[in-house]
Amino acid sequence: MKFDLKAKDPLSNARAGKITTDHGTIETPIFMPVGTIATVKGVHQRELKNDINADVILGNTYHLYLRPKTEILKQAGGLHKFMNWDRNILTDSGGYQVYSLSANRKIKEEGVKFKSHIDGSSHWFTPENVMDIQREIGADIIMAFDECTPYPCDYNYAQRSMHMTHRWLERCIAQLKISPELYGYKQTLFPIVQGSTYKDLRKQSAEYIASVEAEGNAIGGLSVGEPDDEMYAMTEVVTDILPEDKPRYLMGVGTPLNLLENIALGVDMFDCVMPTRNARNGMLFTAHGTINIKNKKWHNDFSPIDEMDITWVDTEYSKAYLRHLFTVNELLGKQIATIHNLGFYLWLVREARKQIIAGTFRSWKDKMVKQMNKRL
Ligand code: GUN
Repeated sequence: MKFDLKAKDPLSNARAGKITTDHGTIETPIFMPVGTIATVKGVHQRELKNDINADVILGNTYHLYLRPKTEILKQAGGLHKFMNWDRNILTDSGGYQVYSLSANRKIKEEGVKFKSHIDGSSHWFTPENVMDIQREIGADIIMAFDECTPYPCDYNYAQRSMHMTHRWLERCIAQLKISPELYGYKQTLFPIVQGSTYKDLRKQSAEYIASVEAEGNAIGGLSVGEPDDEMYAMTEVVTDILPEDKPRYLMGVGTPLNLLENIALGVDMFDCVMPTRNARNGMLFTAHGTINIKNKKWHNDFSPIDEMDITWVDTEYSKAYLRHLFTVNELLGKQIATIHNLGFYLWLVREARKQIIAGTFRSWKDKMVKQMNKRL
């Protein structure tokens, strides 16, 4: 993997860059649509490419390991082939899902024992088998196995957990040396900074993660219920330390506002279920604020979904029609809303990139933050 820094904003820490992998280029800042179980819910791969123009999507080790199971992905020749997606894929390690989804989990130095949220069956994730599984899934960027601490988190727990995440990282790195790439293209490991909401722990973790000299680095343990200001304070501590010449990925974040604020702090990559999940609940993000399309006020509003016309659905259909689809619970409503929201998120990061390159990011960001912080 290669990362080229193209431009830096003079008035903030925002950067524009370009990641190159064996599956193509990713212009940063980037938002990665979440495709948990080998599908970005409600959209075709063709739409992801042609309409939304996603350069990279996310998959989840936890879900894919349980279904369709790693063996099937291996037989298919990896996740790219299985789901017919020839651009980039990043897989999360399960370090988050195991804590948020599975039942009866037991966290030990060796790894995590958990029960499947599907059938209650027992499983073990260790840094070693999670690396093997991610080799078999075959994502371009794979994540270290970590513990994502909850919010709030007791200082002593956060400190112990952070050190364990660091020890697990060493085991991940050692395992990757003996676990070969299976499909003829390169995979790269991103380690994850933890440390909850404690500045000293975040600093210590970022220093350790930077010392490993991976090709890219991630920030975890945020967007777990902490106030936005606390999230930004932690991001700032960490981006000050992580190397400038490597991409920085903030996991599980966030609202359009969170994206812009964190881009200003030097983050390059994001993922979040928000644009897809909220779309399925009838919530649309636009450059002028959020819309609850189920609201009665739209019932006879025949204006386009979004005058900005970022994706074709925006002017192809009216608000009244989309509201109707939600009212009668038709699948098409969720599909339209998903294309709209993902199109908007990708537009937002691409526009941020343009503004960084033009040297106008800060004033644009301040205007957008005000503008988007409304309910229409
Ligand atoms: N997704 C959101 N936050 C996290 C985190 O802290 N760790 C992992 N592995 N995934 C995440």
